[in-house]
Amino acid sequence: MNANYKELQDFDRKYIWHPACQMKDYEDFPAIPVVKGEGPYLYTADGKEILDIVSSWWCNLLGHCNEEISDAIAKQAKTLEHVIFANFTHPWAIDLVKELLTIVPKGLTHFNFADNGSSSVEMALKIAFQYQHQIGQKQRLKFACLSDGYHGETIGALSVGSMDLYNLMYKPMMMDNIHIEAPDLFERADVSIEESIEKARAVFKEHGDELCALIVEPLLQGAAGMRIYPKEYLKALFDLCKEYKVLLIADEIATGFGRTGKWFACDHAKITPDIMCLSKAITGGYMPMSVVCTTDEVYKAFLGDYKDGVAFMHSHTYAGNPLACSAALAVIRVLKRDNIIEKAGEMGKWLSEKFESTFKPLDNVGQVRHLGLINVLELVKDKKSNKRFSSDLRLGYRIYKRALSYGLLLRPIGDTLYFNPPLNIKKEDLEKALEIAYRAITEELALIK
Ligand SMILES: Cc1ncc(COP(=O)(O)O)c(C=O)c1O
Repeated sequence: MNANYKELQDFDRKYIWHPACQMKDYEDFPAIPVVKGEGPYLYTADGKEILDIVSSWWCNLLGHCNEEISDAIAKQAKTLEHVIFANFTHPWAIDLVKELLTIVPKGLTHFNFADNGSSSVEMALKIAFQYQHQIGQKQRLKFACLSDGYHGETIGALSVGSMDLYNLMYKPMMMDNIHIEAPDLFERADVSIEESIEKARAVFKEHGDELCALIVEPLLQGAAGMRIYPKEYLKALFDLCKEYKVLLIADEIATGFGRTGKWFACDHAKITPDIMCLSKAITGGYMPMSVVCTTDEVYKAFLGDYKDGVAFMHSHTYAGNPLACSAALAVIRVLKRDNIIEKAGEMGKWLSEKFESTFKPLDNVGQVRHLGLINVLELVKDKKSNKRFSSDLRLGYRIYKRALSYGLLLRPIGDTLYFNPPLNIKKEDLEKALEIAYRAITEELALIK
Protein backbone atom coordinates (compact mmCIF):
# COMPACT_ATOMS: atom_id res chain seq x y z
CA MET A 1 0.00 0.00 0.00
CA ASN A 2 1.53 3.38 -0.90
CA ALA A 3 1.56 6.39 1.45
CA ASN A 4 -0.96 8.33 -0.58
CA TYR A 5 -3.43 5.44 -0.44
CA LYS A 6 -3.12 5.22 3.34
CA GLU A 7 -3.41 9.00 3.78
CA LEU A 8 -6.60 9.07 1.73
CA GLN A 9 -8.06 6.20 3.71
CA ASP A 10 -7.16 7.71 7.08
CA PHE A 11 -8.61 11.09 6.24
CA ASP A 12 -11.74 9.50 4.80
CA ARG A 13 -12.29 7.34 7.87
CA LYS A 14 -11.94 10.31 10.15
CA TYR A 15 -14.24 12.78 8.39
CA ILE A 16 -16.41 11.23 5.71
CA TRP A 17 -19.83 9.63 6.22
CA HIS A 18 -20.58 7.20 3.38
CA PRO A 19 -24.03 6.33 1.99
CA ALA A 20 -26.10 3.47 3.42
CA CYS A 21 -23.27 2.00 5.49
CA GLN A 22 -22.57 1.16 9.12
CA MET A 23 -19.51 3.39 9.50
CA LYS A 24 -18.11 1.11 12.22
CA ASP A 25 -17.48 -1.45 9.46
CA TYR A 26 -15.01 1.04 7.99
CA GLU A 27 -12.72 0.56 10.99
CA ASP A 28 -11.51 -2.77 9.61
CA PHE A 29 -12.67 -2.31 6.03
CA PRO A 30 -12.00 1.33 5.08
CA ALA A 31 -13.13 2.98 1.86
CA ILE A 32 -11.03 2.13 -1.19
CA PRO A 33 -9.51 5.21 -2.80
CA VAL A 34 -10.19 5.20 -6.55
CA VAL A 35 -8.21 7.56 -8.75
CA LYS A 36 -9.12 6.57 -12.30
CA GLY A 37 -11.76 4.83 -14.38
CA GLU A 38 -11.65 3.28 -17.83
CA GLY A 39 -14.36 1.18 -19.48
CA PRO A 40 -15.75 -1.22 -16.87
CA TYR A 41 -12.60 -0.82 -14.73
CA LEU A 42 -11.73 1.34 -11.74
CA TYR A 43 -8.14 1.91 -10.64
CA THR A 44 -7.18 2.40 -7.00
CA ALA A 45 -4.59 4.80 -5.60
CA ASP A 46 -2.24 1.85 -5.14
CA GLY A 47 -2.60 0.76 -8.76
CA LYS A 48 -5.06 -2.14 -8.44
CA GLU A 49 -7.65 -2.80 -11.11
CA ILE A 50 -11.28 -3.40 -10.08
CA LEU A 51 -13.92 -4.62 -12.51
CA ASP A 52 -17.10 -2.64 -11.76
CA ILE A 53 -19.79 -5.21 -12.56
CA VAL A 54 -22.55 -3.18 -10.86
CA SER A 55 -22.01 -0.03 -12.93
CA SER A 56 -21.37 1.99 -9.75
CA TRP A 57 -24.93 1.68 -8.44
CA TRP A 58 -26.35 0.98 -11.91
CA CYS A 59 -25.66 4.39 -13.39
CA ASN A 60 -22.54 3.85 -15.46
CA LEU A 61 -24.04 2.87 -18.83
CA LEU A 62 -21.19 3.08 -21.34
CA GLY A 63 -18.07 2.56 -19.26
CA HIS A 64 -16.06 4.89 -17.04
CA CYS A 65 -14.45 7.86 -18.77
CA ASN A 66 -16.12 7.10 -22.07
CA GLU A 67 -14.32 9.36 -24.50
CA GLU A 68 -17.38 10.78 -26.23
CA ILE A 69 -19.21 11.64 -23.02
CA SER A 70 -16.06 13.09 -21.42
CA ASP A 71 -15.40 15.21 -24.52
CA ALA A 72 -19.00 16.44 -24.63
CA ILE A 73 -18.81 17.58 -21.01
CA ALA A 74 -15.38 19.17 -21.46
CA LYS A 75 -16.61 21.12 -24.48
CA GLN A 76 -19.76 22.13 -22.65
CA ALA A 77 -17.77 23.30 -19.62
CA LYS A 78 -16.02 25.82 -21.85
CA THR A 79 -19.25 27.06 -23.41
CA LEU A 80 -21.98 27.28 -20.76
CA GLU A 81 -21.70 25.46 -17.46
CA HIS A 82 -25.05 26.44 -15.97
CA VAL A 83 -27.86 28.92 -16.28
CA ILE A 84 -30.97 29.48 -14.20
CA PHE A 85 -33.71 27.42 -15.87
CA ALA A 86 -36.64 29.65 -14.86
CA ASN A 87 -37.38 31.97 -17.81
CA PHE A 88 -34.20 30.79 -19.56
CA THR A 89 -33.49 27.84 -21.79
CA HIS A 90 -30.54 26.59 -23.86
CA PRO A 91 -29.89 24.50 -26.98
CA TRP A 92 -28.62 21.47 -25.03
CA ALA A 93 -31.83 21.05 -23.05
CA ILE A 94 -33.81 21.55 -26.25
CA ASP A 95 -31.74 19.01 -28.18
CA LEU A 96 -32.04 16.55 -25.31
CA VAL A 97 -35.81 16.87 -25.25
CA LYS A 98 -35.89 16.41 -29.06
CA GLU A 99 -34.01 13.15 -28.52
CA LEU A 100 -36.15 12.05 -25.57
CA LEU A 101 -39.25 12.57 -27.73
CA THR A 102 -37.89 9.94 -30.13
CA ILE A 103 -37.32 7.28 -27.48
CA VAL A 104 -39.77 7.62 -24.58
CA PRO A 105 -43.14 5.83 -24.79
CA LYS A 106 -45.43 7.67 -27.23
CA GLY A 107 -47.61 10.26 -25.54
CA LEU A 108 -45.04 11.52 -23.04
CA THR A 109 -44.59 15.04 -24.30
CA HIS A 110 -43.54 17.32 -21.44
CA PHE A 111 -40.25 17.19 -19.57
CA ASN A 112 -39.39 18.70 -16.20
CA PHE A 113 -35.79 18.56 -14.95
CA ALA A 114 -34.43 17.76 -11.50
CA ASP A 115 -31.07 16.59 -10.28
CA ASN A 116 -31.29 13.05 -8.88
CA GLY A 117 -33.61 10.08 -8.79
CA SER A 118 -35.28 10.78 -5.45
CA SER A 119 -36.02 14.38 -6.34
CA SER A 120 -37.69 13.27 -9.57
CA VAL A 121 -39.87 10.90 -7.55
CA GLU A 122 -40.83 13.76 -5.21
CA MET A 123 -41.69 15.81 -8.26
CA ALA A 124 -43.75 13.02 -9.81
CA LEU A 125 -45.74 12.55 -6.59
CA LYS A 126 -46.43 16.26 -6.29
CA ILE A 127 -47.47 16.53 -9.94
CA ALA A 128 -49.89 13.59 -9.53
CA PHE A 129 -51.34 15.01 -6.33
CA GLN A 130 -51.81 18.50 -7.71
CA TYR A 131 -53.16 17.19 -11.01
CA GLN A 132 -55.98 15.32 -9.28
CA HIS A 133 -56.75 18.34 -7.13
CA GLN A 134 -56.89 20.64 -10.14
CA ILE A 135 -59.18 18.42 -12.16
CA GLY A 136 -61.62 18.39 -9.23
CA GLN A 137 -60.68 15.01 -7.74
CA LYS A 138 -59.85 16.48 -4.36
CA GLN A 139 -60.64 13.30 -2.46
CA ARG A 140 -57.67 11.54 -4.12
CA LEU A 141 -55.08 12.08 -1.41
CA LYS A 142 -53.20 8.78 -1.29
CA PHE A 143 -50.62 6.90 -3.30
CA ALA A 144 -50.47 3.20 -3.98
CA CYS A 145 -47.17 1.39 -4.32
CA LEU A 146 -45.84 -2.15 -4.52
CA SER A 147 -44.49 -4.27 -1.69
CA ASP A 148 -40.69 -4.22 -1.62
CA GLY A 149 -40.67 -1.23 -3.93
CA TYR A 150 -37.90 1.34 -3.68
CA HIS A 151 -38.03 4.89 -5.00
CA GLY A 152 -35.29 6.73 -3.16
CA GLU A 153 -34.48 8.09 0.26
CA THR A 154 -36.19 11.47 0.61
CA ILE A 155 -39.31 11.46 2.76
CA GLY A 156 -41.88 11.37 -0.05
CA ALA A 157 -39.93 8.73 -1.95
CA LEU A 158 -39.49 6.67 1.23
CA SER A 159 -43.23 6.91 1.86
CA VAL A 160 -43.96 5.13 -1.40
CA GLY A 161 -41.20 2.61 -0.76
CA SER A 162 -41.88 -0.58 1.10
CA MET A 163 -38.49 -1.69 2.31
CA ASP A 164 -38.19 -1.68 6.10
CA LEU A 165 -34.42 -1.53 5.85
CA TYR A 166 -34.72 2.07 4.68
CA ASN A 167 -38.16 3.06 6.01
CA LEU A 168 -38.73 1.70 9.48
CA MET A 169 -36.92 4.40 11.43
CA TYR A 170 -38.72 7.20 9.64
CA LYS A 171 -42.29 5.81 9.64
CA PRO A 172 -43.59 8.53 11.97
CA MET A 173 -42.43 11.13 9.42
CA MET A 174 -43.94 9.42 6.43
CA MET A 175 -47.22 9.64 4.49
CA ASP A 176 -49.70 6.87 4.90
CA ASN A 177 -49.96 5.04 1.60
CA ILE A 178 -51.52 1.88 0.24
CA HIS A 179 -49.20 -1.03 -0.36
CA ILE A 180 -50.11 -3.66 -2.93
CA GLU A 181 -48.60 -7.12 -2.56
CA ALA A 182 -46.44 -7.53 -5.65
CA PRO A 183 -45.52 -10.93 -7.04
CA ASP A 184 -42.39 -12.09 -5.31
CA LEU A 185 -41.36 -14.91 -7.56
CA PHE A 186 -38.44 -15.87 -5.37
CA GLU A 187 -39.93 -16.09 -1.88
CA ARG A 188 -43.07 -17.70 -3.27
CA ALA A 189 -42.19 -19.42 -6.50
CA ASP A 190 -45.70 -20.93 -6.60
CA VAL A 191 -47.45 -17.58 -6.70
CA SER A 192 -49.42 -17.03 -9.89
CA ILE A 193 -49.55 -13.71 -11.66
CA GLU A 194 -53.34 -13.98 -11.80
CA GLU A 195 -53.37 -14.17 -8.01
CA SER A 196 -51.22 -11.03 -7.76
CA ILE A 197 -53.43 -9.21 -10.25
CA GLU A 198 -56.48 -10.16 -8.20
CA LYS A 199 -54.83 -8.72 -5.10
CA ALA A 200 -54.15 -5.47 -6.92
CA ARG A 201 -57.74 -5.44 -8.21
CA ALA A 202 -59.05 -5.83 -4.67
CA VAL A 203 -56.98 -2.83 -3.53
CA PHE A 204 -58.28 -0.72 -6.41
CA LYS A 205 -61.84 -1.80 -5.64
CA GLU A 206 -61.49 -0.70 -2.04
CA HIS A 207 -59.33 2.40 -2.45
CA GLY A 208 -59.54 3.31 -6.16
CA ASP A 209 -61.47 6.54 -5.50
CA GLU A 210 -58.99 7.87 -2.95
CA LEU A 211 -55.84 7.18 -4.97
CA CYS A 212 -54.12 9.91 -6.95
CA ALA A 213 -51.44 7.63 -8.38
CA LEU A 214 -49.80 4.24 -8.32
CA ILE A 215 -46.01 4.28 -8.47
CA VAL A 216 -44.05 1.24 -9.65
CA GLU A 217 -40.60 0.18 -10.69
CA PRO A 218 -41.59 -1.40 -14.00
CA LEU A 219 -40.54 -5.09 -14.31
CA LEU A 220 -37.50 -4.86 -12.06
CA GLN A 221 -37.54 -4.10 -8.33
CA GLY A 222 -33.86 -3.28 -8.05
CA ALA A 223 -33.19 -2.48 -4.40
CA ALA A 224 -35.45 -5.34 -3.30
CA GLY A 225 -32.83 -7.66 -4.80
CA MET A 226 -33.31 -7.33 -8.55
CA ARG A 227 -36.71 -8.99 -8.39
CA ILE A 228 -38.26 -9.42 -11.79
CA TYR A 229 -41.99 -9.61 -12.45
CA PRO A 230 -43.64 -10.30 -15.81
CA LYS A 231 -44.83 -7.64 -18.20
CA GLU A 232 -48.38 -9.00 -17.91
CA TYR A 233 -48.49 -7.79 -14.30
CA LEU A 234 -47.35 -4.32 -15.33
CA LYS A 235 -49.97 -4.23 -18.08
CA ALA A 236 -52.67 -5.29 -15.62
CA LEU A 237 -51.66 -2.47 -13.24
CA PHE A 238 -51.78 -0.02 -16.13
CA ASP A 239 -55.31 -1.23 -17.02
CA LEU A 240 -56.46 -0.91 -13.40
CA CYS A 241 -55.12 2.63 -13.25
CA LYS A 242 -57.05 3.53 -16.39
CA GLU A 243 -60.24 1.91 -15.08
CA TYR A 244 -60.08 3.77 -11.75
CA LYS A 245 -58.68 7.03 -13.19
CA VAL A 246 -55.54 6.70 -11.10
CA LEU A 247 -52.31 8.05 -12.60
CA LEU A 248 -49.52 5.55 -13.22
CA ILE A 249 -46.01 6.74 -12.31
CA ALA A 250 -43.30 4.57 -13.84
CA ASP A 251 -40.05 4.94 -11.94
CA GLU A 252 -37.58 4.04 -14.71
CA ILE A 253 -34.63 5.45 -12.78
CA ALA A 254 -32.91 2.06 -12.66
CA THR A 255 -34.51 0.44 -15.71
CA GLY A 256 -34.28 3.19 -18.34
CA PHE A 257 -31.87 3.47 -21.25
CA GLY A 258 -31.58 -0.17 -22.24
CA ARG A 259 -31.01 -1.86 -18.90
CA THR A 260 -33.88 -4.31 -19.45
CA GLY A 261 -33.18 -4.96 -23.14
CA LYS A 262 -35.43 -2.17 -24.47
CA TRP A 263 -35.13 1.59 -24.13
CA PHE A 264 -37.56 1.51 -21.21
CA ALA A 265 -39.08 -1.31 -19.17
CA CYS A 266 -42.56 0.07 -20.02
CA ASP A 267 -41.84 -0.79 -23.66
CA HIS A 268 -41.99 -4.52 -22.83
CA ALA A 269 -45.63 -4.10 -21.76
CA LYS A 270 -46.32 -1.60 -24.58
CA ILE A 271 -47.69 0.99 -22.16
CA THR A 272 -47.35 4.73 -21.76
CA PRO A 273 -47.47 5.73 -18.11
CA ASP A 274 -48.90 9.14 -17.18
CA ILE A 275 -45.65 10.13 -15.53
CA MET A 276 -42.19 8.63 -15.97
CA CYS A 277 -39.03 9.31 -13.91
CA LEU A 278 -35.60 9.04 -15.52
CA SER A 279 -32.18 9.38 -13.93
CA LYS A 280 -28.99 7.30 -13.36
CA ALA A 281 -28.04 6.05 -16.87
CA ILE A 282 -29.46 9.14 -18.59
CA THR A 283 -26.07 10.85 -18.27
CA GLY A 284 -24.13 7.59 -18.51
CA GLY A 285 -23.49 7.93 -14.79
CA TYR A 286 -21.51 11.14 -15.26
CA MET A 287 -23.71 13.86 -13.83
CA PRO A 288 -26.60 13.95 -11.39
CA MET A 289 -29.69 14.64 -13.47
CA SER A 290 -33.27 13.44 -13.59
CA VAL A 291 -36.20 14.13 -15.85
CA VAL A 292 -39.90 13.73 -15.14
CA CYS A 293 -41.87 13.10 -18.33
CA THR A 294 -45.64 13.61 -18.46
CA THR A 295 -48.49 13.55 -20.93
CA ASP A 296 -50.31 16.53 -22.46
CA GLU A 297 -53.31 15.74 -20.32
CA VAL A 298 -51.34 16.07 -17.09
CA TYR A 299 -49.46 19.15 -18.27
CA LYS A 300 -52.63 20.97 -19.30
CA ALA A 301 -54.09 20.72 -15.79
CA PHE A 302 -51.37 23.15 -14.67
CA LEU A 303 -52.05 25.82 -17.29
CA GLY A 304 -54.06 28.87 -16.31
CA ASP A 305 -53.85 32.54 -15.51
CA TYR A 306 -51.29 33.52 -12.91
CA LYS A 307 -54.05 34.44 -10.47
CA ASP A 308 -55.57 30.94 -10.76
CA GLY A 309 -52.64 29.60 -8.73
CA VAL A 310 -52.45 26.32 -10.63
CA ALA A 311 -48.76 26.47 -11.57
CA PHE A 312 -46.41 23.73 -10.45
CA MET A 313 -44.38 25.67 -7.87
CA HIS A 314 -41.43 23.34 -7.71
CA SER A 315 -37.80 24.00 -8.54
CA HIS A 316 -34.29 22.62 -8.25
CA THR A 317 -31.28 24.91 -8.62
CA TYR A 318 -29.56 22.59 -11.07
CA ALA A 319 -32.64 21.89 -13.21
CA GLY A 320 -31.65 21.53 -16.85
CA ASN A 321 -27.93 21.78 -16.12
CA PRO A 322 -26.18 22.11 -19.53
CA LEU A 323 -23.26 19.85 -18.56
CA ALA A 324 -25.69 17.06 -17.66
CA CYS A 325 -27.75 17.69 -20.82
CA SER A 326 -24.61 17.41 -22.96
CA ALA A 327 -23.65 14.18 -21.25
CA ALA A 328 -27.15 12.81 -21.87
CA LEU A 329 -27.04 13.86 -25.52
CA ALA A 330 -23.76 11.99 -25.95
CA VAL A 331 -25.24 8.90 -24.27
CA ILE A 332 -28.28 8.81 -26.54
CA ARG A 333 -26.13 9.48 -29.63
CA VAL A 334 -23.83 6.54 -28.84
CA LEU A 335 -26.71 4.20 -27.92
CA LYS A 336 -28.46 4.93 -31.21
CA ARG A 337 -25.45 5.09 -33.53
CA ASP A 338 -23.76 1.95 -32.25
CA ASN A 339 -26.97 -0.09 -31.74
CA ILE A 340 -25.82 -0.66 -28.19
CA ILE A 341 -29.17 -1.89 -26.85
CA GLU A 342 -29.53 -4.55 -29.58
CA LYS A 343 -25.94 -5.66 -29.13
CA ALA A 344 -26.35 -5.81 -25.34
CA GLY A 345 -29.41 -8.00 -25.98
CA GLU A 346 -27.21 -10.52 -27.85
CA MET A 347 -24.58 -10.36 -25.13
CA GLY A 348 -27.36 -10.78 -22.56
CA LYS A 349 -28.38 -14.12 -24.11
CA TRP A 350 -24.81 -15.36 -23.98
CA LEU A 351 -24.30 -14.10 -20.43
CA SER A 352 -27.49 -15.56 -19.01
CA GLU A 353 -26.56 -19.04 -20.33
CA LYS A 354 -23.04 -18.75 -18.93
CA PHE A 355 -24.27 -17.31 -15.62
CA GLU A 356 -26.77 -20.11 -15.19
CA SER A 357 -24.37 -22.91 -16.13
CA THR A 358 -21.66 -21.47 -13.85
CA PHE A 359 -23.69 -20.87 -10.70
CA LYS A 360 -26.85 -22.96 -10.85
CA PRO A 361 -25.07 -26.29 -10.16
CA LEU A 362 -23.69 -24.96 -6.85
CA ASP A 363 -25.37 -26.48 -3.78
CA ASN A 364 -26.19 -23.12 -2.26
CA VAL A 365 -27.38 -21.26 -5.29
CA GLY A 366 -31.16 -21.10 -5.47
CA GLN A 367 -32.98 -19.11 -8.09
CA VAL A 368 -31.04 -17.61 -10.99
CA ARG A 369 -32.80 -14.98 -13.11
CA HIS A 370 -32.03 -12.36 -15.71
CA LEU A 371 -33.38 -9.39 -17.62
CA GLY A 372 -31.28 -7.67 -20.29
CA LEU A 373 -27.69 -7.81 -19.09
CA ILE A 374 -28.80 -8.00 -15.46
CA ASN A 375 -28.12 -11.47 -14.02
CA VAL A 376 -29.03 -12.41 -10.48
CA LEU A 377 -28.48 -15.35 -8.14
CA GLU A 378 -29.86 -16.11 -4.70
CA LEU A 379 -27.63 -17.77 -2.12
CA VAL A 380 -29.68 -20.18 -0.04
CA LYS A 381 -28.97 -22.54 2.82
CA ASP A 382 -31.31 -25.09 1.35
CA LYS A 383 -32.06 -25.27 -2.33
CA LYS A 384 -35.33 -27.16 -2.00
CA SER A 385 -37.03 -24.87 0.50
CA ASN A 386 -35.23 -21.66 -0.63
CA LYS A 387 -34.36 -21.14 3.05
CA ARG A 388 -31.80 -18.39 3.43
CA PHE A 389 -28.67 -18.33 5.54
CA SER A 390 -28.86 -16.46 8.84
CA SER A 391 -28.35 -12.76 8.12
CA ASP A 392 -25.87 -12.67 11.06
CA LEU A 393 -23.46 -14.59 8.85
CA ARG A 394 -23.34 -11.61 6.45
CA LEU A 395 -22.50 -14.04 3.69
CA GLY A 396 -23.15 -11.56 0.87
CA TYR A 397 -20.92 -9.00 2.55
CA ARG A 398 -18.15 -11.57 3.01
CA ILE A 399 -18.34 -12.53 -0.65
CA TYR A 400 -18.30 -8.83 -1.54
CA LYS A 401 -15.04 -8.31 0.37
CA ARG A 402 -13.44 -11.45 -1.03
CA ALA A 403 -14.42 -10.60 -4.61
CA LEU A 404 -13.00 -7.11 -4.13
CA SER A 405 -9.69 -8.55 -3.01
CA TYR A 406 -9.64 -10.44 -6.33
CA GLY A 407 -10.50 -7.31 -8.31
CA LEU A 408 -14.28 -7.50 -8.76
CA LEU A 409 -16.81 -4.98 -7.46
CA LEU A 410 -19.83 -7.19 -6.84
CA ARG A 411 -22.06 -5.42 -4.36
CA PRO A 412 -24.66 -7.94 -3.18
CA ILE A 413 -28.02 -6.99 -1.71
CA GLY A 414 -28.08 -9.26 1.36
CA ASP A 415 -27.49 -12.72 -0.09
CA THR A 416 -28.64 -11.70 -3.57
CA LEU A 417 -25.69 -11.36 -5.93
CA TYR A 418 -26.01 -9.75 -9.30
CA PHE A 419 -24.24 -8.40 -12.37
CA ASN A 420 -25.53 -5.13 -13.84
CA PRO A 421 -22.64 -4.08 -16.09
CA PRO A 422 -22.29 -1.26 -18.60
CA LEU A 423 -24.13 -2.16 -21.81
CA ASN A 424 -20.96 -2.05 -23.92
CA ILE A 425 -18.95 -4.43 -21.72
CA LYS A 426 -16.79 -6.95 -23.60
CA LYS A 427 -17.20 -10.71 -23.40
CA GLU A 428 -13.73 -11.20 -21.93
CA ASP A 429 -14.58 -8.86 -19.06
CA LEU A 430 -17.79 -10.76 -18.36
CA GLU A 431 -15.81 -14.01 -18.41
CA LYS A 432 -13.43 -12.52 -15.88
CA ALA A 433 -16.34 -11.41 -13.68
CA LEU A 434 -17.86 -14.91 -13.80
CA GLU A 435 -14.55 -16.47 -12.87
CA ILE A 436 -13.88 -14.17 -9.90
CA ALA A 437 -17.47 -14.30 -8.63
CA TYR A 438 -17.36 -18.12 -8.78
CA ARG A 439 -14.11 -18.19 -6.85
CA ALA A 440 -15.30 -15.74 -4.18
CA ILE A 441 -18.63 -17.51 -3.72
CA THR A 442 -17.24 -21.05 -3.52
CA GLU A 443 -14.41 -20.06 -1.20
CA GLU A 444 -16.72 -18.25 1.23
CA LEU A 445 -19.27 -21.07 1.13
CA ALA A 446 -16.51 -23.59 1.93
CA LEU A 447 -15.55 -21.51 4.96
CA ILE A 448 -19.01 -21.43 6.51
CA LYS A 449 -19.66 -25.16 6.09
C1 LIG B 1 -35.95 2.64 -8.88
C2 LIG B 1 -35.22 3.74 -8.16
N1 LIG B 1 -35.86 4.87 -7.88
C3 LIG B 1 -35.24 5.89 -7.26
C4 LIG B 1 -33.92 5.80 -6.88
C5 LIG B 1 -33.26 6.96 -6.17
O1 LIG B 1 -32.36 7.60 -7.00
P1 LIG B 1 -31.21 8.52 -6.34
O2 LIG B 1 -30.30 7.59 -5.60
O3 LIG B 1 -30.55 9.19 -7.51
O4 LIG B 1 -31.89 9.49 -5.45
C6 LIG B 1 -33.21 4.63 -7.16
C7 LIG B 1 -31.81 4.48 -6.75
O5 LIG B 1 -31.25 3.42 -6.71
C8 LIG B 1 -33.88 3.56 -7.81
O6 LIG B 1 -33.27 2.41 -8.09
